[in-house]
Formats: sequence, structure tokens, C-alpha cells
Amino acid sequence: MVEERHRPQSAVQQQQQQTLSTMFTAVLVGIVLGGLIYFLVQRNKNQVLKVEDGWWGAGAPPDGEEDDTIRPFKVNTSDEELEDLHRRIDQTRPVAALEDSQFHYGFNSQYLEKVISYWRNDFNWKSQVDKLNQFPHFKTTIEGIDIHYLHVKPKKVPQGKTAIPLIMVHGWPGSFYEFYRLIPLLTEPSNPDDLVFEVVCPSIPGYGFSEAPHKKGFNTVSAANIFVKLMKRLGFQQFYAQGGDWGSLITTNMAQLEPQTVKGLHVNFAPIAKPSIQMILSMMFGRYFPNLFGFNDMDVKGVFPCKEKMLVNVLKESGYMHIQATKPDTVGRGLNDSPVGLATYILEKFSTWTKGEFRNLEDGGLTRKFSLDDLLTNVMIYWVSECIIPSMRFYKENLGKGLNPPHTKIPVVVPTGIACFPDELVYTPELWAKKKFHNIVSFSHMARGGHFAAMEEPQLMAEDIQKFTKIVEKK
Ligand SMILES: *[C@@H]1O[C@H](CO)[C@@H](O)[C@H](O)[C@H]1NC(C)=O
Repeated sequence: MVEERHRPQSAVQQQQQQTLSTMFTAVLVGIVLGGLIYFLVQRNKNQVLKVEDGWWGAGAPPDGEEDDTIRPFKVNTSDEELEDLHRRIDQTRPVAALEDSQFHYGFNSQYLEKVISYWRNDFNWKSQVDKLNQFPHFKTTIEGIDIHYLHVKPKKVPQGKTAIPLIMVHGWPGSFYEFYRLIPLLTEPSNPDDLVFEVVCPSIPGYGFSEAPHKKGFNTVSAANIFVKLMKRLGFQQFYAQGGDWGSLITTNMAQLEPQTVKGLHVNFAPIAKPSIQMILSMMFGRYFPNLFGFNDMDVKGVFPCKEKMLVNVLKESGYMHIQATKPDTVGRGLNDSPVGLATYILEKFSTWTKGEFRNLEDGGLTRKFSLDDLLTNVMIYWVSECIIPSMRFYKENLGKGLNPPHTKIPVVVPTGIACFPDELVYTPELWAKKKFHNIVSFSHMARGGHFAAMEEPQLMAEDIQKFTKIVEKK
């Protein structure tokens, strides 16, 4: 037998082998990296929200191009409209409130008499209409329905600066009027270091002076698609978006549909629709082991605000949502006929959603943060436009098909600012928000304010929008 002798390798051979293995490693790394990049790109591609253009007008879409003209619009009123309103208010049938019931059974009937009396005798709708018309309103037709919006340009833009386009979207039971004190703070900031904004405030289709969709299925993604088209029709290639309540979801959807177009997203409401196991565990045990779940003091206070079990509170406060997500047209009909019923239904939310503890007050704390003039102006927008039923239907269209529509699975990649107001209905710790918003550039714990923050604390809101936009503009 000839034994093969192991001969020492020559230096040349060794070098050859090394080169080979280096090449092999390089190719392997290349394949893995390439695959990873391909995977990430593909994944990101799949993670842009898609939507088909809709047609929400009555009947079949007409042949040919849609009329894309922009028409100036003014809110108007008439003596007949006011006489009709007053006659209906006068015919209300007062109900005795339960003794010592405050706002725990809903809007307190005794306090309601004061609101009604003010509405009937002191509230001046004509002068509120003038106030509404202080900003320029327009209408334009998109996907078959008339879209109403305010378009407020700064009176003057300082030299060397350009106005920053910003769309702000309201929710339920609010309206574009929620932004009236905030708008001038953004278009005419008093601080010379501040950015100057050009603001667009649309009414969600089915709300206020935007036409209601005539077809089923109009949800936040449909609204987002329409508002992106609106901004492009106004000539904005890129813009910022801000929202609360439904407006936060609509603007979030805009960022998911067009991450290249939406330069930055600022929301003051960021509920996570799709909770992870970690979130559920932290809801159950986070109060006792905050560190284990990465909660800071703010998070503990925010997620566990009161002694009451969170679930109990959610059940107590979400009845309206169940009705609106199932049979909006039934109860809505009564509200559309009765101004008193409508005001009761809407203003209860302005009490409880501004501060939960207001339920313990005889007057629901309504005028602690708002004037009756402002509250009733918002109610009047629902009354004169007869929009309560379509506004309620929006819940059915969004929640009727389960809590996890496709957009909840798609992350938001545009720079995002989140303003956490302490009395907001749900508090979202940054830890949770990061799961959906992958590029949070500012997360602010605000000093005061609840669900209707733009209306309640316009100054604080303006400051946070400035802070957020400055960060994004510097990048
Ligand atoms: C407001 O103006 C429109 C268009 O001219 C008209 O159709 C409508 O009836 C007016 N509304 C009231 C309340 O007068």
C-alpha cells in the first residue's frame, strides 16, 4: 500500500485557496445581501396601501372626463331655515333628569334646558355664518361627489420663505370648524422664527358641506384617496397632513397610499387597531411591572388613568360606536328631525371626550373649555347640512367588516409626529406607536387637552405642529 504522504502546501497553493475562499465568501455575502435587499424592497412595495378609484355619485358614472373645476362656496342661511329650527326647538318635550345623575346617564336633561334656551334666545346663527365665511370656502367634484374645503393662504410670506402646505382633517362629531382658532396661528404665526403654513381643511364626505357618498363602502381609505386627489388638484406635489379622530386615520391612510407625497404626518390620536401579544400582556400587567414592558411614568399614567378597569370604561363609552357601526340610519332619523336630540347626542361627546371626569358634573363641564357659541356652531353645521346619518354611517363602513382592515397591517414610513393630549380617549405609549409608525420624529406629552384638542388647545397644537414640521424640514 502506498501511503499518501501529506506534503506541506506550497505558499502559492495556500494563497490560491485563500483567494478562492474569500471569493466564495464574497459571493455568499453578495447573494444573502442581495436577497435581503430584494426582500426588503419587495416587502416595502407590498406595504404601500393600494386603493382603486371610486365612484360615489348617484347612479352610474357619466361618460367622459370629470368636471374638475374649483368653485368658491359660501355658507348661507335664510329666515325660513331659522324659523323652522326655532319651531322645532319650541316643540321639544322636556324630560326630568334623574336626581343626582350628573352626566352618568348621558347628557343631563336639566342642564340641557339651559343649552336649549341659549340656542333659542341668544345664539346668533347669522353672525356665526359670517364667522364661518371669514375663511375662503370652495367645492370641487371628486369621484362623483362634491368635496367642500377651506383653503387659507397666508396674507404674506416672509422673503426667503415658502408657505408649507398642510391638510388638516377633523373627525366625528366634529367639523372643519374645530380648526378655526388654530388656522390663523399657522398661517399668520406671531413668532418670526416660525414656519408659515398654507392650510386646507376639507369636510369628510358625508360631513358638513361635503356631499355624502351615495354608494356603500366609503371608508377612511376612500376619503384618503379623495383628499390626496384634492391636494394634487390644488397643485401641491408634496404636503403635510394633520388629523385627530377619524382625521388621524384618514391622514395616516394618505401617508400609506402616497409616502412620497405626504412629507410629514402629525396626529393627535393614534390608537393601534391591531394589538400584539406584547401589548395585551402589557395592558394586563404593565401597571404592576412597568419596567418589564418598557413603560415610563407617563405611559403608566396614560394607559391606566383611573381605578376603573379599562375594559369597563370602554364598554360604558362605546355604545354609540356599536349603534353607528351597525344601524346608523335608525337612530339617525330621529336626530335629523330634532335639533334638540341632535345637540344632545353631539354635545355629550364634547363633554365626556374632553375630560372623563366631566361626567361627574351637573353641567358636564361643557363651558369650561368651549363657549356655547362654538359648540352650537358645530351642531348647526350638522343640522343645516343634514349630515348626521351619513356621518354615523362612516362607522359602519369602517368597522362593519371587522377591526383589522388591510391598512392596519401596513406600517407608516413617512416622518410622523404624535401629540399625546392627557385627556385623550386612548393613550398610545410610544413603544406601541412605533410598531405602526416606523419613523416617529417627535412624540409630545402635551400639557393640557382632550379629544378635541385643535379646538380646545389651539395654541398648544400650533406649537407642536411647528416643532414637528421644523424637525422634518431640517432633515
Ligand atoms: C343657500 O344657497 C344655495 C345655493 O344658492 C340654495 O340652494 C340654498 O337653498 C341656500 N340655503 C339657504 C338655507 O337659504
